[in-house]
Amino acid sequence: MMGVAAIEPHTGWSFSNAFDDDQFDQWQKLLEARTGMRFTRAQRSLLQTRLGQRMAEAGYEDYQAYYEHVTAGGMPAASEWQALIDYLTVQETRFFRDPMAMELVGEHLHARWQRNTGPVQLWSVGCATGEEAYSLAMVAAEMNRKAKTPRPYAITGSDISAPAIHKARLGRYHRRKLEPVPVSLQQRYFDWRGEEATVRRELAEHLCFTRLNVLDLEDAPMTGMDVIFCQNLLIYFRRWRRRDLVNELVSRLKPGGMLVLGPGELAGYDHPDLVPISSRNNLAWLRKYRTEHRE
Ligand SMILES: C[S@@+](CC[C@H](N)C(=O)[O-])C[C@H]1O[C@@H](n2cnc3c(N)ncnc32)[C@H](O)[C@@H]1O
Repeated sequence: MMGVAAIEPHTGWSFSNAFDDDQFDQWQKLLEARTGMRFTRAQRSLLQTRLGQRMAEAGYEDYQAYYEHVTAGGMPAASEWQALIDYLTVQETRFFRDPMAMELVGEHLHARWQRNTGPVQLWSVGCATGEEAYSLAMVAAEMNRKAKTPRPYAITGSDISAPAIHKARLGRYHRRKLEPVPVSLQQRYFDWRGEEATVRRELAEHLCFTRLNVLDLEDAPMTGMDVIFCQNLLIYFRRWRRRDLVNELVSRLKPGGMLVLGPGELAGYDHPDLVPISSRNNLAWLRKYRTEHRE
């Protein structure tokens, strides 16, 4: 596996062994086993670049030595793995990234608000730096603003990346990031300081962010969700894994609760407890009511 020294093009860092097929295969297998994310052969140089960036920062020159370090077990390996994950995940996100899906959630919540069904719980799975979770929160907050009787609501955002979760908890964004947010909502839910906007406490107190690897969903405490919103995460996984994860998410929905995926992320998916929501550009379903679960 050892090879010639190579200059990594994006970092200028000199590595003492090549990122050959064997290296690619072992890194790809490790990543997929631990995160579900799959780098195809066509993405080999992408994986090499991102790995190289982290190795340069951590002071490693040898892919094999670095591999052995992150797989050694114990605290140093675990904390380096956490740092590496941040380089390998794509955390691109935006407020109201999928406006039609948010509209769908708004309609669903409107119906929930009509019935007195107790606290409303929403979950943004793979929330990255929080924009999706705060968008859901604004949709729910707007329901309360217009309702005769305000309803308690809570939004959970989860992601595998600890730094992303840290940023989400801060709830602080540059003005440019706020552009997709309607001006009235920018004014109502953010405190502005120069070019920076921070989510107001009155909204932020409805949110909770937690680090969660979706491969560990079985151990996650989230249940009884009114809305589960999971977009642009499953695309990195193989189809069988997407299906298994979505089955697990379905079990976390309340009867009558809604599951929203990104368009085309699991086309043809079918589940005996779900009814698809049709005539929309979204992949969304409602969980069926069972007589024993009626609210
Ligand atoms: C492209 S972002 C999507 C963010 C947001 N859902 C959106 O659509 O704008 C994908 C997120 O999935 C997270 N992710 C990747 N693998 C994960 C895993 N195994 N468990 C939890 N989150 C994961 C990444 O850290 C990243 O923040």
